Amino acid sequence: MNKITKCIFPSAGYGTRLLPITKTIPKEMLLVHTKPLIQYGVEEAIEAGCDIMGIITNKNKTVIEDYFDNNLDVENVIQNSSNKNILDDLNDIINNNQFIYTRQLEIKGLGNAIYCAKPLVGNEAFAVILSDDLCINKNNGVLSQMMEVYEKYPNHCIVAVEKIAPEKSNQYGIISGENIQDNLIRVNDMVEKPEEKDALSDLAIVGRYILTPDIFDILENMKKGKGGEIQITDALLELAKKGNVLAVNFDGKRFDCGKIDGLMEANKYFM
Ligand code: UTP
Repeated sequence: MNKITKCIFPSAGYGTRLLPITKTIPKEMLLVHTKPLIQYGVEEAIEAGCDIMGIITNKNKTVIEDYFDNNLDVENVIQNSSNKNILDDLNDIINNNQFIYTRQLEIKGLGNAIYCAKPLVGNEAFAVILSDDLCINKNNGVLSQMMEVYEKYPNHCIVAVEKIAPEKSNQYGIISGENIQDNLIRVNDMVEKPEEKDALSDLAIVGRYILTPDIFDILENMKKGKGGEIQITDALLELAKKGNVLAVNFDGKRFDCGKIDGLMEANKYFM
């Protein structure tokens, strides 16, 4: 089995729920405690063994590219100051990993954003992190927990799930399936953003995936789904029907930083 080394960060969405700031600042660059959201995601990917980060962007997201690059002017300014080590952690990330960018030309949904990573990923399994879902678990991050499952179940797609309040079903992809061990479910059905009455369970998919490359063939022909967008949930359902999708009910805490209350809560958590 090949080790997973590539992690894709779909980052092309408009972030309309966080307007007005997202009019000019990508949501991925919003601050949680001392770092932008996307850095938490990149650190989680590195901890899980990835060293190639593929970031799916659009024309308003160039500051993400600049962030994961040298800035010699700033380095010179801080060199002799008390802040001289403040960029060390970020520079370690930049120097020891590769960042590759591609643009999603039309914002057609998460499934389409992931499809944009096809030339970068090739014929390998890969990870996906939505950095607006900030996940915290000391010593064993959520993606690491999913990698452990993938090692036991190669050729399976893995999604992260958590229990949600039923009235929030219409904000998530909801799964159903059978438990195959503690906190591990073989998925047999999944629906994107159902009404509460149609929810299959109280288990919602959060922004972490391990995907096998056959997902690209499915995404290539995928029709628009809920909200007129190409949904990764619909593509995964095709693999779930073959028994090839597992859901990990992970250890850890998640903050939905795609909305203001989640972003504030995450900041409070770190204070
Ligand atoms: P969201 O729907 O949560 O993010 O997509 P959004 O569209 O940016 O935010 P709102 O709803 O307008 O406030 C989940 C993730 O998928 C990415 C987003 O950037 C986010 O990380 N995404 C979504 C894309 O990259 N492309 C898309 O076409 C849609």
